[in-house]
Amino acid sequence: MTATTLPSPVRDVPTQVLVGGEWRPASGGATFEVSDPATEEVLTSVADGTGEDGLAALAAAHEAAPAWAAVAPRDRAELLRACFEAIVDRTEELAALITAEGGKPLAESRAEVAYGAEFFRWFAEEAVRAPGLLRTAPAGANRQLVHRRPVGPALLITPWNFPIAMATRKIGPALAAGCPVVIKPAQLTPLTTMAVAEIVRGELAARDLPAGVINVVPTSSARTVTAPVIADPRLRKLSFTGSTGVGRVLLGQAAEQVLNCSMELGGNAPFVVFADADLDAAVEGAMVAKLRNGGQSCVGANRFLVDSAVAGEFADRLAARFERLTVGPGAEGHDVGPLIGADAVAKVHELVDDATGRGARALTGGELPDGPGYFYPPTVLADVPADARCVAEEIFGPVAPVVVFDGADAGIALANDTEYGLAAYAYTRDVDLAMRAAHEIDSGMIGINRGMVSDASAPFGGVKQSGLGREGGEAGLEEYLETVYVAM
Ligand code: SIN
Repeated sequence: MTATTLPSPVRDVPTQVLVGGEWRPASGGATFEVSDPATEEVLTSVADGTGEDGLAALAAAHEAAPAWAAVAPRDRAELLRACFEAIVDRTEELAALITAEGGKPLAESRAEVAYGAEFFRWFAEEAVRAPGLLRTAPAGANRQLVHRRPVGPALLITPWNFPIAMATRKIGPALAAGCPVVIKPAQLTPLTTMAVAEIVRGELAARDLPAGVINVVPTSSARTVTAPVIADPRLRKLSFTGSTGVGRVLLGQAAEQVLNCSMELGGNAPFVVFADADLDAAVEGAMVAKLRNGGQSCVGANRFLVDSAVAGEFADRLAARFERLTVGPGAEGHDVGPLIGADAVAKVHELVDDATGRGARALTGGELPDGPGYFYPPTVLADVPADARCVAEEIFGPVAPVVVFDGADAGIALANDTEYGLAAYAYTRDVDLAMRAAHEIDSGMIGINRGMVSDASAPFGGVKQSGLGREGGEAGLEEYLETVYVAM
């Protein structure tokens, strides 16, 4: 591990490549910088991994695979449980790190540490419950034994927006199932993921378990690392969280090896407020669904579809709530932190300009602040036409466009007018309408009268172009297991 001379909370975080239990420089010796989006200041430099490093990491994972698969499920469970406890014990340090590199308000970073740790606890409990089956074949001539075995070395590509939770959501089930991993953390927020990897590395070493079970290759050039790893037949699993565009490219590469893939891709979550909704609850739900991580979440509400009977009141109330929020560095206790970078601010503002250019009105926000830091004000747009770009594209910022509809049928039709289907939210007091929305809105997850769906114990994932497979819940473990049928 590099002995850093950096300010807290970055001090002592590994900044190199982890291969087979050793932190070491990247093979080319290069590094890249990681910055604080609230101040634009450089926090530290991280080893810039190469294809050679990726393949070395895969070799270590491949070598560890048979021994790791043979470790008793109970021992794998206890490792994960220890990692859960270590993360919880280090909540303040990890939360400060998330805020430093990602900008999230400290309170939200603490919540992410708890959420992220929970994946280790959940999969510690699932590790000892891999399903199986023994039955007599219908013809009665023989028995059928169906069991699961680890799929093998897995490449985990994680996003910048939840650097602990998206890592543990993949590492947890992979390790529980018996699969060693190579992690390619996000270029913008690699430090938290590397801190978690160091916790796992330490717990493996303390138990004398195979060191190659966890490997990490940070890089400023994702494809340089991932392409050769994906092309290598020793890799047996790819799990990716990120945009649909990148997911398509990875799926194309993975097709060559017919690789087992889990893909958590883009979203365009509708937040549907029907005419009979409890508006107090809808506004509170909207605050969470829109503003978690400043709107930079795949499950963040992207479009507020509101019945004309309540649209004006909903938009005014939401704008009033947004106006009470403070915007500033997450470490200073503000409600809304910075976006991840200058490009993100430019994109969000472009979408707001497009909407106002088409007749939308900014009830609050909508103006670019001065720097430093990549801040954007919480913004409510009323009278947004259905053809505005922010209705079709993922905003990934604190902007709430309100689109009006007339009647439940129109609301559900608008909700489905997208190629995405990750999360949706619906507010109504009518149980029949709630059940109808849950069945008719094409979405992998739907919150009914709730602005939050994420839970380590629930199957997280999308339909349509939002992805393949599920993470979390019982389903999360299955993604790292393959089925073997024995006829006896
Ligand atoms: C994401 O934004 O990709 C995931 C957020 C979550 O797990 O809640």
